[in-house]
Amino acid sequence: MTGARVVRAAGALVEASPLPQAALYEIVRVGRRRLLGEVIRIQGEVATVQVFEDTAGLALEEPVESTGAPLQAELGPGLLGSVLDGTGRPLSRLAEQEGNFLSTGTVATTLDRARRWEFTPSAKVGARLAAGDELGTVVENEGVVHRILVPPDVSGVLAELKAGSYSVEEEVGRLQDGTALRLLQRWPVRVPRPVARWLPADRPFVTGQRVFDFLFPVAEGGSVAVPGGFGTGKTVIEQSLAKHSMADIVVYVGCGERGNEMADVLEEFPTLEDPRTGRSLMNRTVLVVNTSNMPVAAREASVYLGLTIAEYYRDMGYRVALMADSLSRWAEALREIGSLLREMPGEEGYPTSLGNRLGKLFERAGRATALGAGGREGAVTFISALSPPGGDFSEPVTQAALRVAGALWALDASLAHQRQFPAVDWETSYSLQAADVMPWFEQHGGAEWTGLRRETFALLQRDRELREVAGLVGPDALEDQDRLILETARLLREFLIGQSAYDPADASSPVTKTWRLADTILRFHREGTAALAGGGTMATVDVGGVRRTLSALRASPEGTPT
Ligand SMILES: Nc1ncnc2c1ncn2[C@@H]1O[C@H](COP(=O)(O)OP(=O)(O)O)[C@@H](O)[C@H]1O
Ligand SMILES: [Mg+2]
Repeated sequence: MTGARVVRAAGALVEASPLPQAALYEIVRVGRRRLLGEVIRIQGEVATVQVFEDTAGLALEEPVESTGAPLQAELGPGLLGSVLDGTGRPLSRLAEQEGNFLSTGTVATTLDRARRWEFTPSAKVGARLAAGDELGTVVENEGVVHRILVPPDVSGVLAELKAGSYSVEEEVGRLQDGTALRLLQRWPVRVPRPVARWLPADRPFVTGQRVFDFLFPVAEGGSVAVPGGFGTGKTVIEQSLAKHSMADIVVYVGCGERGNEMADVLEEFPTLEDPRTGRSLMNRTVLVVNTSNMPVAAREASVYLGLTIAEYYRDMGYRVALMADSLSRWAEALREIGSLLREMPGEEGYPTSLGNRLGKLFERAGRATALGAGGREGAVTFISALSPPGGDFSEPVTQAALRVAGALWALDASLAHQRQFPAVDWETSYSLQAADVMPWFEQHGGAEWTGLRRETFALLQRDRELREVAGLVGPDALEDQDRLILETARLLREFLIGQSAYDPADASSPVTKTWRLADTILRFHREGTAALAGGGTMATVDVGGVRRTLSALRASPEGTPT
């Protein structure tokens, strides 16, 4: 019998036959250039393969080889600081060898085989080990303790384990049954990594951004959809969160927005400074990037790769922030592949499975106790930007994301236009987890957090109504009490909700500072209301004074009064 051959090719899709043993999602090598591909449909002896690399020049009758394995992530020391494509090839390392464009069929491992790591064992020879137990540690990038864990499918009695300097593929030890233990392990990207148990979402993912922490807080292990038109601040938010949120580890999946955006990310990210260490943020970041000129299938895969890496660090007990920018491009990749497959399209041409697929992505976020002794707790918090065409949130991808996300941070083009940043539309945004995390904020931010938040929403709502009225009858027709509300709402927008990503003293707001700003503004409103009720006029309310106090608070990184 002759081997499998290419019998049909259309863009990123190739049909190979005969492949009677092919398994769904198995990786195959396509053509003489051995392009990386994945089986996504099997009909009789014909396997349909999505190819992760450019298929230009591929001809009929070229050979197709099975590998017997699904698309897997390489997991181990050296992930942090790396820049990967959607299938895990190290763009950063390859760029040194090949320049920015990889030639097709390039076989490159995610982790550098030449690099050596100082391994310190912690498990004891003779101990019975199970999945998730710690074998020892390696220090990654001088700061992050990388726990080497027994892989999820391995268990047995430890026969040998030695300290020393190892490359990721060398054996650091062995189980009695002969199973070799290494710094490197692999995991199929489309399969969630197992946990011992999921934990309740009762503590916040503190972002350092007041509008989120105060008005729309999400839980650690929660998920957020951040839709916004072009220029509304999605990328700035993701980068601010990467820098200032409480996450220990950042995994950033860039799904090529237009043309050069990924080039910008590649240039900018490495220049971001980690406010905790003063060194590069890349030391605790993994970038997975797709430019719009990379094949769609790689873009589809990239989100799963990012999730798998995030789960791997979660299992070590870290709080991981997974950012996708933007998931709309991922959904568009699904649509392109679906149309090549001639699937029956759903709304606006997206596959009917879109909602289901998005649901499965978001389900992989969460806070959990990891497998293994010690009860390590970690979390993956998923923050996903969406770029709905024309900023229209009724389109299918945004709608599908909203059905599965725990919160919506809706960005508004008119706010961005007024340079009210972050341009979060407080009327449409919400968090389903706000109530669960309020006790934490009351304890760490300030008592009355819940009450201040309620008061803020009420004032913003009243402000909107009054501005409509004022638009009709003119501001002079308003009562002083109403003018005080307009004044207070202006302070809320300017000092509480508004926050510049570029002001070093205010780019990140500790929760105590957030509380103090809110408390100061709302106290101003209460005292002003009382003064007006006692016969005073707006002219006697000291707006200038409160503005000075607020400016000073805002200019102080910790929000401590001067
Ligand atoms: N928090 C912020 N503080 C100050 N400026 C901001 C902020 N968010 C966005 N901007 C401004 O808006 C511009 C566009 O933001 P960006 O994140 O690139 O938009 P998007 O990714 O939605 O297309 C930024 O270059 C910046 O000038
Ligand atoms: Mg952007």
